[in-house]
Amino acid sequence: MKILVIGSGGREHALIWALKQNSASPLKVYCAPGNAGIASLGECVNISADDHFALREFARSNAIDLTIVGPEVPLANGIVDEFQSGGLKIVGPSQAAARLESSKAFAKDFMQRHALPTADYVVAHSRDEALAAVRSARFGDTNAPVVVKADGLAAGKGVIVARSRAEAERAIVELSSGSVVAQESASRILIEEALEGREVSVLLFADGQDYALMPAARDHKRIGENDTGPNTGGMGAITDASIIDGETVEQIVREVVEPTLNGAVKEGFPFRGVLFIGLMLTAAGPKVLEYNVRFGDPETQAILIRLESDLVEIFQALVDGRLRDVDVRWRAGSSACVVLASGGYPAAYQTGALIAGLDRVIVGPALQVFHAGTSWSERGELVTAGGRVLGITAWQPTLDAALARCYEAVDRINWPGKQYRRDIGRFEPHQQAGG
Ligand SMILES: Nc1ncnc2c1ncn2[C@@H]1O[C@H](COP(=O)(O)OP(=O)(O)O)[C@@H](O)[C@H]1O
Ligand SMILES: [Mg+2]
Repeated sequence: MKILVIGSGGREHALIWALKQNSASPLKVYCAPGNAGIASLGECVNISADDHFALREFARSNAIDLTIVGPEVPLANGIVDEFQSGGLKIVGPSQAAARLESSKAFAKDFMQRHALPTADYVVAHSRDEALAAVRSARFGDTNAPVVVKADGLAAGKGVIVARSRAEAERAIVELSSGSVVAQESASRILIEEALEGREVSVLLFADGQDYALMPAARDHKRIGENDTGPNTGGMGAITDASIIDGETVEQIVREVVEPTLNGAVKEGFPFRGVLFIGLMLTAAGPKVLEYNVRFGDPETQAILIRLESDLVEIFQALVDGRLRDVDVRWRAGSSACVVLASGGYPAAYQTGALIAGLDRVIVGPALQVFHAGTSWSERGELVTAGGRVLGITAWQPTLDAALARCYEAVDRINWPGKQYRRDIGRFEPHQQAGG
């Protein structure tokens, strides 16, 4: 069986590892474009994740049986529809379903149509409309914080939790200027009530009818310990029973998961693929912050190291609409992923640093080193090639044990400027609006 995975990060490395780990049949895996770590599991193909035409040609001429899409941009641009119209099997939502991620305004209006619990919001169609919204009494006392969001995809740079209205106004002006996110992503701006609580990520497989939940995850977005400093793509993630209790999971299924999937069917875009629901656990119950229509990074690494079932079988079932026939099982316990990043990240960072000590880490089913930004030097040595470089990922009976395994490996791997957070899984930020 031949599989093509689209993407090049730690998420895609983890996906390919998990595909091969539990597969009942031999697999030949290609990855476009991949990275140096992925090259040890499959063949990297030098095609950009955004070049749909070349990807489709590659899948056709190599008789690929199944294509899996990692990142959001190709999904938002309709790669799934394009592959399907060419008779090629691909895992992921249609372009219409991908609007749940590619337009925050669409997603919020969808949530409102289906009475999902979420923060109060306004969609502004211009800078001035957005400014008027934050100056109005709509979001309560003008000392209360508000959240400003660009409508479109913004690679994590389109959301500002503003402590004051002055900060919100500055954020609106900056988003509208096109200097931080593409102008078209900010052609609409959302203003939201700021929620308080703890964040949790609930991911699920969906085949348009049925769904299977993954273990709930929590990630750490800030570069600095105790959640300080600028946002990153994600510095670590965990899965652990303490993240969310069974009763709350049931409430989320009832109030969020099922209404979302049923709403998508009713509106004519049944959701097939991986749905990632970002939630805030507030005093008034769980509320949806956002949807992503694909796996998250680094949640995927922490989640998939616990997968017991055959991922190829799960993905095939998503495409064929028979998830109900598949038993999706997870290893009991907890997991953690600690990201090692380049010096300077998330601002300008160095690349090309020699990565030492990987040979001193013994990997297996309970410990993996997933590559995010790595490549080979001209002399054939492994070097850093991105902001986030490696994701050390462990699964153990307890979170403490998983973290201990991660950090033991973290200490063995080195390069000049290596940075990471020592408090992954430890610091449980209680998101203080305004704090
Ligand atoms: N309404 C809200 N109230 C409080 N915090 C929020 C709200 N919306 C978003 N946030 C914070 O901003 C982060 C990013 O927002 P999100 O909607 O997930 O956008 P994206 O991941 O696309 O950047 C969230 O993880 C959360 O910490
Ligand atoms: Mg988010």
